[in-house]
Amino acid sequence: MFSYRHAFHAGNHADVLKHMVLVATLKYLGQKDTALTVVDTHAGAGLYRLDQDQAQTSGEASGGVLKLRAALAGTDPATLPEALRDYLEMVASFNDGGPFKHYPGSPWIAHALMRPQDKLKLFEVHPTDGRLLTRNVEGLGAGKQVEVLRKNSFDSLKALLPPPSRRGLVLMDPSYELKTDYEAVVACVLDALKRFPTGTFAIWYPVIARPEAHAMAKKLKTLSTQHQRPWVQAELAVGHTPDGTPVKTGARPATQMRASGMHIINPPFTLAAQLREALPVVLTHLKGKVGAGWMVEHGG
Ligand SMILES: C[S@@+](CC[C@H](N)C(=O)[O-])C[C@H]1O[C@@H](n2cnc3c(N)ncnc32)[C@H](O)[C@@H]1O
Repeated sequence: MFSYRHAFHAGNHADVLKHMVLVATLKYLGQKDTALTVVDTHAGAGLYRLDQDQAQTSGEASGGVLKLRAALAGTDPATLPEALRDYLEMVASFNDGGPFKHYPGSPWIAHALMRPQDKLKLFEVHPTDGRLLTRNVEGLGAGKQVEVLRKNSFDSLKALLPPPSRRGLVLMDPSYELKTDYEAVVACVLDALKRFPTGTFAIWYPVIARPEAHAMAKKLKTLSTQHQRPWVQAELAVGHTPDGTPVKTGARPATQMRASGMHIINPPFTLAAQLREALPVVLTHLKGKVGAGWMVEHGG
């Protein structure tokens, strides 16, 4: 536990998928005036540097957001799929239109899309990243609108549900350092759905050769259907080069993850179509020669 630091992974292909979904979902939910509570159950440090030590060591952003930005630099944004355009504009807004040196984690993306009536609750247990997050949030000067909870979210999420306005998004983005995280996610989502059946839940998962990971993605579909909730499940696989080395320059093969997914319960009704439009374009620019692909399923 506590070996995972998101600073090494910020802006990689998994963040591209996750944060594209987050931006699209929050933009949709923000169309109604009623207050929204956003809970980020695994917040990380909040804001990252792509031009400094950790990101430079891993090189993961260079196969993710930096590669996308370079490939699409001369493209008229109006011609891009909406979800991709909105995501790239979100990252650009943290970089004054210049090269991408800063990368917003999920708390910063959520904060950027908040209205005065909304609330943001951020869980983080890592001692260092919890401290960094607290310091970064203090710098926002958002007062009581943004709260950092340095607790285990699997135990503590229930206390926040349902939110007072009965409108909310729960983003669940564990590091899956513990094998038990897969079961914990399913149990936590089941409990949360009982408390807040109309809430939107967005769960990230790695697509890796681990039975628990496959089982979890399947269980999330089953439980959504059993609870008669609409859902979307989207995966992005960037694949690898023919000799099996990763497509991301400089990245460490041992830690290389080539695909990930998002399961969204009670998604915006526009989300599946938006992702079907955006993911092929994303993949055109991020894919390796072997094993790349994308999928979007929906149900309910
Ligand atoms: C993948 S990172 C989060 C990245 C962030 N959501 C983003 O998109 O910018 C996962 C974080 O969850 C934290 N974490 C792991 N288990 C946790 C738990 N049970 N409760 C709260 N935080 C946890 C880790 O310390 C790590 O910082």
